[in-house]
Amino acid sequence: MEKYIIDGGVKLKGKIRAQSAKNAVLPLLAASILTDEQVKIRNMPVINDVENMLRILSEVGCKIKRQKDCAVIDSSNAVSHEIPARLTKELRSSVFMLGSVLTRFHRAKISYPGGCDIGLRPIDLHLAGLKRLGVKIVEKDGYIHCEADRLIGGEILLDFPSVGATENIVLAAVRAEGITVIRNAAKEPEIIDLQNFLNAMGAKIRGAGGGTIVVEGVRRLHGVEYTPIGDRIEAGTYLIATATCGGEIEVQGVFPENIAALLHKLRENGCKIHIKNDKIYLTSDGNLKSVNLVETMPFPGFPTDMQAQYAALCCTARGSTLIVENLFETRYRYAAELKKMGADITVRDRSALIRGVERLHGACVTAGDLRGGAALVIACLKAEGRSNVMDISHIDRGYADFEGKLKRLGAKIRRVKG
Ligand code: UD1
Repeated sequence: MEKYIIDGGVKLKGKIRAQSAKNAVLPLLAASILTDEQVKIRNMPVINDVENMLRILSEVGCKIKRQKDCAVIDSSNAVSHEIPARLTKELRSSVFMLGSVLTRFHRAKISYPGGCDIGLRPIDLHLAGLKRLGVKIVEKDGYIHCEADRLIGGEILLDFPSVGATENIVLAAVRAEGITVIRNAAKEPEIIDLQNFLNAMGAKIRGAGGGTIVVEGVRRLHGVEYTPIGDRIEAGTYLIATATCGGEIEVQGVFPENIAALLHKLRENGCKIHIKNDKIYLTSDGNLKSVNLVETMPFPGFPTDMQAQYAALCCTARGSTLIVENLFETRYRYAAELKKMGADITVRDRSALIRGVERLHGACVTAGDLRGGAALVIACLKAEGRSNVMDISHIDRGYADFEGKLKRLGAKIRRVKG
């Protein structure tokens, strides 16, 4: 087990280039088995979720080559329609394999997916959508067995704009017979990236980024070389860290409009933000004021994946902030850890009331999930004195070289065993 030791109270200063978005890369990897030809994905982030997805691909029979920061996937010899349960438990995004494995093998067997423990995270919308495309689904002994001799395009109206369900349905529809229309589709930028990637392979998809996606099934897809979009959540994490600690940061590699909701709040907090092309410049004196209310929403609303990091900022902002988490049920586990550092937080159901305190002090805290873990690191960077952050494997799931990038910004952070 590894941990971070952090000496807080240091302002941050420097430049960051965002890694490719975790939430874009994972569905692209699942999509790579939709063709027999080689798929090359550039700028792959070195994070555990990506490594686990590559392991799943290799267990279903794909050959994976790593060339510098690229992954080359050759699925011409892929044989298995079974997604290994051991890896499914590690990674929620293994569920995307359902749509692509069905397209490739006309059947799929998968156990219920794992991932961050932040709520119930059902997959009923995924399954209902697949059924509309002609998939027969039987749930037995903890496994989901899917079969479709023919995938046939259909009209799907999602009860909720689920990111994963939208992506899974697109993956199952891309080579289906006829046209699929997904209404109330999720609008996240990573869905546009999936559309661009699949279209570059010969698919006919339009509408991603809006509420209705139209997929015209094609007979075959070909190989592709592709660079995914930058990680808006990673970029947002460094912006929040600098806003909280004070300092100056230049973030490159994300479309500023993809994190507009966060930038809007940070401006209200008192940060100076300036945008030039794909560069975001933020300056903060570290003495922020609270905004009254932050509610997480599907894109373009405030992202649930930035809620915990933003809560860390609120802990020392003047005044009170009410955070309402509308997507996941148990996304405040980090609050008890922040309280050990002197934060004043009251959590009730989906709301957290954070009253800003003058200062946080160092403590030993434990990461319980990916973004909650990043939030603890931000709080420790701000706190006076030394902190330990335990169980940082959660953070390794989504941030490549987290401590390296923070060190380059001047943070006093190191990774140690034990
Ligand atoms: C994706 C992201 C995750 C992000 C989330 C919301 C990836 C790999 N992960 O997760 O980082 O936090 O979007 O932006 O892209 N729901 C159902 N039934 C379903 C599916 C979802 O009720 O079948 C509910 C969920 O419980 C949740 C809400 O819909 O309350 C949103 O979930 P969804 O958009 O599906 O998130 P994920 O795709 O799991």
